[in-house]
Amino acid sequence: MKKMMVTKRSPNFREAVSIQTVPVPTPSDRELLIRNRYVGINASDINYSAGRYDPSVTPPFPVGFEGVGDVVALGLSASSQFAVGDTVAYFNDGAFAEYTLVSAKKVIPLKEPQPEALAVLVSGATASIALQRLGEMKKGETVLVTAAAGGTGHFAVQFAKMAGCHVVGTCSSREKVDFLKSIGCDRPINYKEEDLAATLRKEYPNGVDVVYESVGGAVFDLAINNLAQHGRLLVIGFISGYQSESGLQPVRGATLPVKLLQKSASIRGFFLPHFLSEYSECVQKTMEMQMQGKLLCAIDDGQMDEEGRFVGLESVYRAIDYMYAGKNQGKVVVEV
Ligand SMILES: NC(=O)c1ccc[n+]([C@@H]2O[C@H](COP(=O)([O-])OP(=O)(O)OC[C@H]3O[C@@H](n4cnc5c(N)ncnc54)[C@H](OP(=O)(O)O)[C@@H]3O)[C@@H](O)[C@H]2O)c1
Repeated sequence: MKKMMVTKRSPNFREAVSIQTVPVPTPSDRELLIRNRYVGINASDINYSAGRYDPSVTPPFPVGFEGVGDVVALGLSASSQFAVGDTVAYFNDGAFAEYTLVSAKKVIPLKEPQPEALAVLVSGATASIALQRLGEMKKGETVLVTAAAGGTGHFAVQFAKMAGCHVVGTCSSREKVDFLKSIGCDRPINYKEEDLAATLRKEYPNGVDVVYESVGGAVFDLAINNLAQHGRLLVIGFISGYQSESGLQPVRGATLPVKLLQKSASIRGFFLPHFLSEYSECVQKTMEMQMQGKLLCAIDDGQMDEEGRFVGLESVYRAIDYMYAGKNQGKVVVEV
């Protein structure tokens, strides 16, 4: 089978990762062998290939966070819950492969092998848990979502709307503005055409109550400057730095204490693996909302890309470039 492996740590995914041919593995007692149909692309795939998740791990190591596929073999204990032919979704390392071994307790049964499930596993769960647990959103508050048209951003927009908030979302194109309007974003801001800082100052003079912030650097700084009294800024990520050697763009740290104190505001970090106790329930609920038509799980399979849909493991490289070029709307998915 084909499997993507990090052979050299680097945030440049093409340099870090190669496709290897290896034997199909055998599941142990509690494991399932899953033939991947779809795998999800995450901004952090390049943090992972750079070894930033666990600097002690040395290459070669597998990559890819999430997949949807069919059970093709399983261990004896796992067979009390699953059978060959079942369709499942999972959040586990090593998804960028034709087959992946996953512990039975980490997989979620699905009725259909639908790529929409992939959008929920990391992107949807992050938006749901972060906004609920750390956002403390109240009806009538203003929520700013950065990278709002992306995988996790488009969920954050919808969850904030469901909580009765006024939602502002940043994005980089007119098509994304239309997409954001279609999912209920009250004020999409295309930062390529409008000055983000000036627009926020002018239209939200009292500041925003919650920021779902995933860009970092200068965007983080201006979000801090535009927090309302008692505002909460959720650090979801800092994608603007991921392609650099350090992984970070500088922020104005020296003035942070005074800015937070003056507004009784706070900054709250969020990392999905720290919230696994509520993960399964959140994923089940979010998938139900999607099936009932209450939530849009937007999938971007590259069909608007000039080279066409992302099909085959080798198109993971292209899908990551596409995301970092800011072209995606919704969750980027590759059909294996
Ligand atoms: N903390 C957690 O547990 C967790 C979990 C999932 C995701 N995240 C974070 O959420 C963020 C979004 O991740 P995602 O996987 O859902 O990706 P995504 O939002 O689907 O795609 C990334 C988007 O970010 C913007 N972007 C891309 N490169 C950029 C750059 N160099 N500078 C500024 N903006 C850039 C682009 O949107 P525009 O062109 O429209 O700006 C792009 O479409 C990342 O920071 C990621 O690390 C965190």
